[in-house]
Amino acid sequence: MPASEPRASADTHTDTEPTIRRSLFLHAPLHRMPRTVLRRMLDRVGADTPPGGPDAPVAQLERRIADLFGTESALFFPTGTMAQQVALRVHAERRGRHAFAAHPQTHLDVWEQRGYQVVHGLRFHPVGDRHRLMTGAALASIGEPLAAVVWELPQRDIGGQLPEWDDLRDQVAAVRARGAAAHLDGARIWEAQTYYRRPFAEIAGLFDTVYTSLYKALLGVRGAVLAADAATVAEAAVWRARLGGAIHDAWPLALAGLAGLDDLLPRMPLFREHAIAIATAINTDGVALAWPDPPQTPIFHVHLPASKEDVERAGAELLAAHGVQLFPRLLSAADPRRCSFEVTVGEQAMAFSPAEVVELLHELLDRAGSGR
Ligand SMILES: Cc1ncc(COP(=O)(O)O)c(C=O)c1O
Repeated sequence: MPASEPRASADTHTDTEPTIRRSLFLHAPLHRMPRTVLRRMLDRVGADTPPGGPDAPVAQLERRIADLFGTESALFFPTGTMAQQVALRVHAERRGRHAFAAHPQTHLDVWEQRGYQVVHGLRFHPVGDRHRLMTGAALASIGEPLAAVVWELPQRDIGGQLPEWDDLRDQVAAVRARGAAAHLDGARIWEAQTYYRRPFAEIAGLFDTVYTSLYKALLGVRGAVLAADAATVAEAAVWRARLGGAIHDAWPLALAGLAGLDDLLPRMPLFREHAIAIATAINTDGVALAWPDPPQTPIFHVHLPASKEDVERAGAELLAAHGVQLFPRLLSAADPRRCSFEVTVGEQAMAFSPAEVVELLHELLDRAGSGR
């Protein structure tokens, strides 16, 4: 999802754009400046690391993800957008069915210009309430035959909510019993695992195909991996080539992903704990509502009692005054006097204490003129 980002402090500039010194936002450029990223990569490559072949970074990454997810195979893609559309295309071709079901806020429908339809001739069947998780009952009520159902774990646009494990397992089993494939949008499976506390292979093992992202929690450069059985991956590779995604020398993206797996994946449980601490402080104070309460993963939403326009202005003022960025983008609400933003706790947010976040929210809402 696109987000315009003001400059980070390491960037040299002479114009009047405010400088971000600290940010709660996971993808603020602070730790992602090209020089920093390149240095991190350099540490990981020996003089004899080849650009291609079985020992090269892309092959290493594919093997590592397949092993972690317990699948026969895995395939690098330049984007998750391409990987997921390809997975759905493969499931649809095999079954001779053209519809897939997913949450109304699925990335496939909201952010991809309906590529599933325009490029692949597929139909989208939205399931249930856009502000709630998909339910087994809503899935069971779908009348048409489905090629696949997509679960996004966690469901990012509703604050990173997750179904309970037994519910998820039952939903997947019921869908598969009707002949549809189960696909996991696991862009944030790294965060989801901190709640389920089961091996990645057990989570991925529920699904026929699993996509994950290299650049969200793992803070890679870009890129995605699709994991599945060998026959499915072989078919997906054909579609990847047809769509122009079989890029040679994707090793910088793979290296950055491998660095994320080594350095950040072990820290996910700590990120979740800190998310719970920040959200609890916000809800105890009552300045805003952190939801879900408590967060299930390192992700949650902060719902504010002020309009999007007023909070946008107040956020810009706060950044100009202190060099602190709370959000890059606000979500509007049906109630025009409210808005929200997402927090994903990673390295950036670890540098804020829960009390400090509460204090900043008070200042933000004072500047927004909220009549709390
Ligand atoms: C849940 C989810 N799925 C899929 C994607 C697509 O990934 P990419 O940006 O690599 O195309 C995103 C990207 O934001 C996402 O958040």
